[in-house]
Amino acid sequence: MAINQTDQSHGEAEKPTSFFPIPMSSHTPQRQVGKAPSFPSTHPAQYPPKIDLEVTEFDPKIHLVHPLPVPNNIKILQKDTDAGPGCVKLVTVPSSNPRKKNGEDLAYTEPFRVLTEEGVAAFNATISRNEESMAIVTPRNPKIIRGLGFTSKFVRDFNESPELIRHLSTFANVPLCAHPMTTNYSQINFGEAPREGEDHAKPADVWHLDSVDYVLVVMLTDGFEGGELLVSDMDANQAMEAIRTNDFLSELASANKYPKPGYGIFMQGSRIAHAVSPLTAGSTRITAVNSYASRDVMRIDRPSIYNALSMNHTKGVYDPDYLRHIAVRCMWKLEHLVQNPSYDCPDQGEEILDLVIDQLTMARRLIKGDEEHRVPLSEEIKLQQGEFQKLN
Ligand SMILES: [Fe+2]
Repeated sequence: MAINQTDQSHGEAEKPTSFFPIPMSSHTPQRQVGKAPSFPSTHPAQYPPKIDLEVTEFDPKIHLVHPLPVPNNIKILQKDTDAGPGCVKLVTVPSSNPRKKNGEDLAYTEPFRVLTEEGVAAFNATISRNEESMAIVTPRNPKIIRGLGFTSKFVRDFNESPELIRHLSTFANVPLCAHPMTTNYSQINFGEAPREGEDHAKPADVWHLDSVDYVLVVMLTDGFEGGELLVSDMDANQAMEAIRTNDFLSELASANKYPKPGYGIFMQGSRIAHAVSPLTAGSTRITAVNSYASRDVMRIDRPSIYNALSMNHTKGVYDPDYLRHIAVRCMWKLEHLVQNPSYDCPDQGEEILDLVIDQLTMARRLIKGDEEHRVPLSEEIKLQQGEFQKLN
């Protein structure tokens, strides 16, 4: 059965070369990893720290499950030469299987428990305290909260928890850090329940590829039906193209249910096409989406990361946030050159230099509005700057 999409007027999916990480240079025998940046010392005016108002400090011993569990299975990305050059497919393997050295081949994990009951309660209390002043409506989501990493130390410490990041890094097969775009710390997504007379609500999220490398999506509520995480088992580019032309086969997608609040699914959302199915009954579905970046110094972002964030903030917030992230990516590359001058491989030094110049040049063009990259979504939505609406 083809999934019914009402709007196929969207442009082409980004080409693989523009959003897949650049492969490791043949000159680099071992992966080089950058240092996680410390938390910024400035904050956007609209996200002032409200630490004095917090009733609970994040305590990993109380709020995280111990030990953090390893799910039985994960899905990984495997080359799919039948589908075309450079294509991948998703394959289920036991999580104990040895992985390819230095390969960022994670698609996503089975759900596993992340937060204890106390952790879920503390997080929901944090959301309640901030919801009225921070919730917004965007063209894509009925209601979200962003910026909690600045306003809530609980959220900041949860995102930066060394124990959690170590655990997630083993699935990612690369050291990670909390995403350097700090507004990405725990985006809260609210999935609407159906209104009276409706069979189901609007989809909680449309088919898309993430702009950040990895996300951990933690469920914070129960008491609803539907709201499963849908993931295509096909190559991400091909899946997005099929969705836009109404040729997508739902049989080639998996529906993943979170067993209860506190469970999370960790995924390389930048490389898998995914969506959230509409709620069919019950109350609001609330998730916390923590974003993480690969610390592989050679990894680059899909250019649409700039436009993806611009949907949710004013330019005064998303420009500095994006610039910080690009500065971290470039800093890692330059630090690598500082520590490892390319005496015996001049080509490698030049390759890194080109990456830094390209990244900075593109950042300047994006910020000045000289270049734009469409966010890979299944539905046409407007992305004009400032198009968001504050909830009353
Ligand atoms: Fe996503």
